[in-house]
Amino acid sequence: MIVHPSQFPDAVQRQLLDGLRLGQVPPKFLYDSDRQTQKWLAVHRAHSPSRTDAGVQSIYDLAFDESLGQAAGELVCLVGLGCGGGQKDTRYLDKLKSIHPVVDYVPCDVSQAMTLVACEAATAELPPERIHPLVCDLSNAPDLGQVLDGMLPSQTRRVFTFFGMIPNLEPDVILPRLAALLREGDSLLLSANLAPGDNYRSGVEAVLPQYNNAETRDWLLSFLVGLGVPATAGQLRFGIEEIDKLLRVVADFVFSKALELTINGEPLEFIAGRSLRLFFSYRHTKRTLTRSLAKHGFSIAASQVDSCAEEGVFRAVQV
Ligand SMILES: C[S@@+](CC[C@H](N)C(=O)[O-])C[C@H]1O[C@@H](n2cnc3c(N)ncnc32)[C@H](O)[C@@H]1O
Repeated sequence: MIVHPSQFPDAVQRQLLDGLRLGQVPPKFLYDSDRQTQKWLAVHRAHSPSRTDAGVQSIYDLAFDESLGQAAGELVCLVGLGCGGGQKDTRYLDKLKSIHPVVDYVPCDVSQAMTLVACEAATAELPPERIHPLVCDLSNAPDLGQVLDGMLPSQTRRVFTFFGMIPNLEPDVILPRLAALLREGDSLLLSANLAPGDNYRSGVEAVLPQYNNAETRDWLLSFLVGLGVPATAGQLRFGIEEIDKLLRVVADFVFSKALELTINGEPLEFIAGRSLRLFFSYRHTKRTLTRSLAKHGFSIAASQVDSCAEEGVFRAVQV
């Protein structure tokens, strides 16, 4: 397994402390430990439409089938950016294998535990020597292209998946990184959580209850408890926020009493009434997604949207 310097312990601890001081926990920390991985996998099993709704599973299959023609070539590598448990990537590997003699897989995630779960899932489709795990913070790895060049033969065509990532990462940080990563012949499939209906804000309001459930609360609070913050020190509040004409669901922990903590020898103080941003998740319409992608030189070449209009899988190309 390769661990990129963005996930070396000192860098990670520094980022955590800076984030806590600013009142904004970088999303990666919600996934980044064995415990958080298990909690998130429980959320995913219980609430991800891709696991619970056959209609949503089918849009992934349709997107994989549609993309196969684009990935022609002898050597193909699926690079799962933010692979999570690797369930979707594994379904894609099954299809890629049927038309390509050699398929490699790079499961890439900020969480080592998640990356290992994805490796294990992929062994159902590929021999272990074709699976090359990479632990990396995509927001802090401008050299990811070089890292991949060092891992794969130069003539390999890369098929990138970027599933469930658009909601949790800042578009103006991650989309330029993706734009720099892709080279001619590569393809990119990404998914986005959508706001159903004709009115963007009403659509986001309609899906808000999907976030406020026992498994999600447990996942978010367990991160705080792991830091030494008792769950009783405040309340978790869900809401909707608008940034740059995009709407996102947010969850903040609002301290009801003052708390002092020491993390890695550094003191931290939270005063009563202070709020800590734990989670955000951008919801899109096809129009807002098209606009965000276009700002960074991408257009949508193919799209599959589920019948409830809550999730879409898109093949993006550089224009
Ligand atoms: C919502 S999950 C999606 C997982 C999977 N792709 C799927 O669709 O089921 C987000 C994944 O992104 C990873 N992640 C979050 N921030 C990241 C970052 N900055 N760099 C790399 N991976 C990140 C998390 O560890 C988690 O596995």
